[in-house]
Amino acid sequence: MDVIEAIRSRRSVREFTVNDVDDSVIEKILDAGRWAPSGLNNQAWRFIVVRDNGTKEELSMLSHYGSIIKNAPVLIAIYLDRNEMYDHIKDIQSIGACIQNMLLAVHSMGLGAVWLGQILNKKEDVNIVLGAPASYELMAVVALGYPAQKNRVSERKELSQLVFREQFGQCWQD
Ligand SMILES: Cc1cc2nc3c(=O)[nH]c(=O)nc-3n(C[C@H](O)[C@H](O)[C@H](O)COP(=O)(O)O)c2cc1C
Repeated sequence: MDVIEAIRSRRSVREFTVNDVDDSVIEKILDAGRWAPSGLNNQAWRFIVVRDNGTKEELSMLSHYGSIIKNAPVLIAIYLDRNEMYDHIKDIQSIGACIQNMLLAVHSMGLGAVWLGQILNKKEDVNIVLGAPASYELMAVVALGYPAQKNRVSERKELSQLVFREQFGQCWQD
């Protein structure tokens, strides 16, 4: 799939079929993540892949989006390893790029995913459930699987609402 087409057609997927996802597919998704750019090529991202229903059940109780978490075949918890950090903002920005790479890889292979951030309100509890060390700071959980619904829609602000030409206040499109 062409990159621009992938960026434009990717949508968050919150309902999944019962079909399982092969480890080989998950490895391709993680591989796309680790090839993201990072400041100083620091690569402070770490991943915990969850398939176990009991673990998903425990995590589901930590979020408003529990039904997504429970019903997704696979969860990927994405962490910043604070022991490996060189610059908090830049390391976090890099992890955002890593997550977007994974979402695009998911979409390009015909799967679907949603980036879950609300669960960060309970990030310490997530660490306990997953046995993550104190240096691991949760950045997101991505829930993924084969999409149960298609033709999802979303909207974006117009470029004219977002962009200035040369100076603040000057319209991009006249
Ligand atoms: C940082 C971040 C946090 C998000 N947290 C959640 C979440 O907790 N639950 C959820 O259902 N979607 C979450 N989303 C998905 C957004 O709701 C979604 O990307 C947005 O509405 C645009 O829709 P689209 O992805 O289909 O284009 C999050 C996305 C980002 C980037």
